Amino acid sequence: MSNHKQLSTSLIMGPEYANLYGNVHGGEIMKIMDNTAGAAAAHFVRGHVVTARVDEIQFLRPVHMGDFVTCTGQVAYVGRTSIEIYLTVDVENLLVQDSSARALEAFFTLVAIGADGRPTPVPAYTPETEQEKALHEHVRLRREFYETRREEAKAHLR
Ligand SMILES: CC(C)(COP(=O)(O)OP(=O)(O)OC[C@H]1O[C@@H](n2cnc3c(N)ncnc32)[C@H](O)[C@@H]1OP(=O)(O)O)[C@@H](O)C(=O)NCCC(=O)NCCS
Repeated sequence: MSNHKQLSTSLIMGPEYANLYGNVHGGEIMKIMDNTAGAAAAHFVRGHVVTARVDEIQFLRPVHMGDFVTCTGQVAYVGRTSIEIYLTVDVENLLVQDSSARALEAFFTLVAIGADGRPTPVPAYTPETEQEKALHEHVRLRREFYETRREEAKAHLR
């Protein structure tokens, strides 16, 4: 399912995703999230993107081998060259009716990269629905905090 603001990927968690006890590794879920966030951002931009930041991954529920996982990336905020994607992961046991539940959510920041390998401007985004407007405002406030943290992180790298 996709439109220019939202894109989902779904897959069944086979044994290759799980440990010996049947629990899916957190890293496997994060990889699906990163792929979905990248696809949602690239779809919006119609160009190449790189992941610059991942915020607040909290595993609220376990994911089990055999679960049907749906990861959805929604454009939440667009800056000059960056796109913030709100990521949700829902988990369903296909053998149990109405078992779909939210397992986790997170925010991914992706940056559009031009042919010169540098950040490049992205299309404008205007939130329309009440949900989109609330998400947009939530991210707008968080971005002020990001900038401070980013400056601190860069200072440590030197
Ligand atoms: C992301 C990257 C291209 C940014 O390069 P940069 O020279 O710092 O770019 P700028 O300072 O011009 O910032 C560009 C945009 O990215 C945003 N950004 C960059 N780093 C960010 C961070 N850590 N957190 C949030 N936003 C960030 C800036 O806010 C800016 O957004 P805006 O244009 O919408 O206002 C660079 O840090 C990079 O290549 N990182 C590695 C990405 C990667 O390889 N990811 C895969 C995982 S290994």
